[in-house]
Amino acid sequence: MHQFLPYAWFGGTCVPFAEATLSVATHALHYGTGAFGGMRGLPNPVDANEILLFRADRHARRLSQSARLLLTELDEATIHTAILAFLKANRPTCPIYLRPFVYTSDLGIAPRLHNIQTDFLIYGIEMGDYLSPDGVSCRISSWTRQEDRSLPLRGKISGAYITSSLAKTEAVKSGFDEALLLNSRGKVSEASGMNLFLVRDGVLITPSVDQDILEGITRASILELATVMGIPVLERPVDKTELMIADEVFLSGTAARVTPVRRIENTELPTHRPIMERLRERLTAITEGRDPDYDHWVSRIRIDA
Ligand SMILES: Cc1ncc(COP(=O)(O)O)c(C=O)c1O
Repeated sequence: MHQFLPYAWFGGTCVPFAEATLSVATHALHYGTGAFGGMRGLPNPVDANEILLFRADRHARRLSQSARLLLTELDEATIHTAILAFLKANRPTCPIYLRPFVYTSDLGIAPRLHNIQTDFLIYGIEMGDYLSPDGVSCRISSWTRQEDRSLPLRGKISGAYITSSLAKTEAVKSGFDEALLLNSRGKVSEASGMNLFLVRDGVLITPSVDQDILEGITRASILELATVMGIPVLERPVDKTELMIADEVFLSGTAARVTPVRRIENTELPTHRPIMERLRERLTAITEGRDPDYDHWVSRIRIDA
């Protein structure tokens, strides 16, 4: 059971979490017509009155774009204002995960995105590791990642997560930790809620943005860091068998951070992962506010002001 933060942002203000409730007839509940974000916040280890948010600007931009894909408006400034009020109300003292959500809030039926009210909420949970940082086993899913021509994949659209849910449960029920999905062209796309990287002969490779992936903010950050750190990078289509012979495979995402893959189906992968370790260390230092070169990736939110 999650530990929810005491206040939610709901109806344009902060209310006790238990009072932030919706009608059974809420349109988005039935049709998946919402879009969400996912951000981590961390009390600054050297100043508990400051919450560190990793790449808040990117997260706000993606959520605003997701809203636009659902034909509604949610500007970035509104998102930032709500996050600030939310953090000040909750004053978190441990690592948290924020879940902003824009959704069709009308009551009643008929799937549509026109002539319909939308609303925006945020709730939060306390969150440590989402996946084991020591590594996970992955199954190649029997479910196929959706195509961008059937669903806007560049947004985090709620309805899309039926495929993630089916894939994750299939993987867990068959004894694995996580699912890897191929796209409709049979190329590797991503995991149930994470992007994927592999290393072959010192080159960091990840499925390109035309492979029906979510354009992950952690993924983009890793690509940028790798380049700065002198690690050659390739964004291109990836075949399944490349995973089996890779030197390193790992997953990236806000919840999962950087998680190594230990095994794919029946193939054990090498446990020496020098490139992943370097990137993980750097990213951890940045998110904890310990890397002056990348301080611009961290928003420092005062909760005592
Ligand atoms: C389907 C999917 N892919 C990838 C990611 C990773 O994206 P990010 O690094 O922006 O969290 C997520 C999580 O947000 C996701 O839900």
